[in-house]
Amino acid sequence: MSGPNTSFDPKQVASLNAEAVEAMVAAALAAIADAGDLSALKEVRLAHAGDRSPLALANREIGALPPAAKAEAGKRVGQARGAIKQALDARQVELETERDERVLVEEAVDVTLPYDRSARGARHPLTTLMERVADVFVAMGYEIAEGPEVEAEWVNFDALNVPPDHPARTMQDTFYVGSPDSGVVLRTQTSPIQIRAMLDRDLPVYVIAPGRVYRTDELDATHTPVFHQIEGLAVDRGITMGDLRGTLDHFAESMFGEGIRTRMRPSYFPFTEPSAEVDLECFVCRGESVGNPERPCRTCGSEGWIEWGGCGMVNPRVLQSVGIDPTVYRGFAFGMGVERTLMFRNGVSDMRDMVEGDVRFSLAFGVEA
Ligand code: PHE
Repeated sequence: MSGPNTSFDPKQVASLNAEAVEAMVAAALAAIADAGDLSALKEVRLAHAGDRSPLALANREIGALPPAAKAEAGKRVGQARGAIKQALDARQVELETERDERVLVEEAVDVTLPYDRSARGARHPLTTLMERVADVFVAMGYEIAEGPEVEAEWVNFDALNVPPDHPARTMQDTFYVGSPDSGVVLRTQTSPIQIRAMLDRDLPVYVIAPGRVYRTDELDATHTPVFHQIEGLAVDRGITMGDLRGTLDHFAESMFGEGIRTRMRPSYFPFTEPSAEVDLECFVCRGESVGNPERPCRTCGSEGWIEWGGCGMVNPRVLQSVGIDPTVYRGFAFGMGVERTLMFRNGVSDMRDMVEGDVRFSLAFGVEA
C-alpha cells in the first residue's frame, strides 16, 4: 500500500489554490445576488453548494494533499462554503419576504367592493307545479302528451263535440288565427290534446297533458288571457266513474296531503257525459271552518271545499270522432287550471304576479330544480 504523497506540491492541485477558491466564491455570490426569485435561488443553491458544485468537487481533492497542506486547504474550502451558505440563507430570507409581501398585495380581497349584482334566476312555480302533477301521474303509468298551441278548430272544438254554434266558439272567448273563418285557433283548453293522444296512440291510452291555453279575457287579479291547464285522459276497456274518483282522490292526496278527498258536483261539458265539477276538500281547515265563525278559513272561504276543475266520462261521440268503438272502450277525462291551483295552494292572491316575470315572485317559491 502506498503512503501519503509527501512530495506533492499543493499548488499543483489547481482547484484548491486561493485564487481558484476565491473565484468559486465570487461566482457563487454573483449568482446568488442575481437570483430573482425562490426557484432561481434553488437552482443556484444546487449549482454552487450542491454535491456536484465546484467547491464540493474541490473538497474531495483535499484527501490527496500532503498532510501539511491539508489543514490550510480544508480551512480555505470550509470558509468558502460557509460564506456561500450564509449568502444563500440571507438571500432566501430576502426573497421569501419579498414573495410574502407580493402575495399579500396580489391576493388581497377588498371586502368593501359591491358584490356581483346579476341576480340568480329561479324556475317559475307554474312550471314546477305542472312537473309535480306530471310526476304523480307518470308514477301511475301515464305518459305525458303534448299538442300545438296553434290548433285546428276541428280538434279544439268539433272533435270534442262542441258544435259550431256553441257560445264558446264565438269571438268573445276564442282567439282566431287570421280571420274567424280560418279554421285555426289558439287552443282554448288542453282538451284537444285528448283528441291528438287518441289519434296518435294505440289503446289503451293513459296520458297527462300540461299546457298553455288562450282565451280573450282581460288581465286582472283572477283572469289572464294566457294560462295553463293540466289534462288527464284514460281510455281502456271497462273504465268506470269509480276509476275517475279514485284517480282524483289519489291526485288530491299526492298534492295536498294524506286523506284529502274530492267531491263531484253534476255539471256539463260537451265532451264528457256525465260531467262533473271537481271540488277539493280544503287542505287547510279540512272542513272545520264550516259554520264556525271563530275559526274562519281564508283558503276555502270557510266553505270546506275548493273548486278545482272539470271532469267526466269521455262522451261516446268524442270516442267515435277519433275512430274508437264506444261499445268496447270507455274513458274518463279531467282538466284543472294550473294558475288557480297555485293560487289556493300557495296563497297567491293576484294572478298578475304570475305573468309579470319578476324573479322575486319565483324566488319566493325556492330555487327548486
Ligand atoms: N276543458 C275543460 C275546461 O277548460 C275542463 C275539462 C277537461 C272538463 C276534461 C272535463 C274533462 O273547462
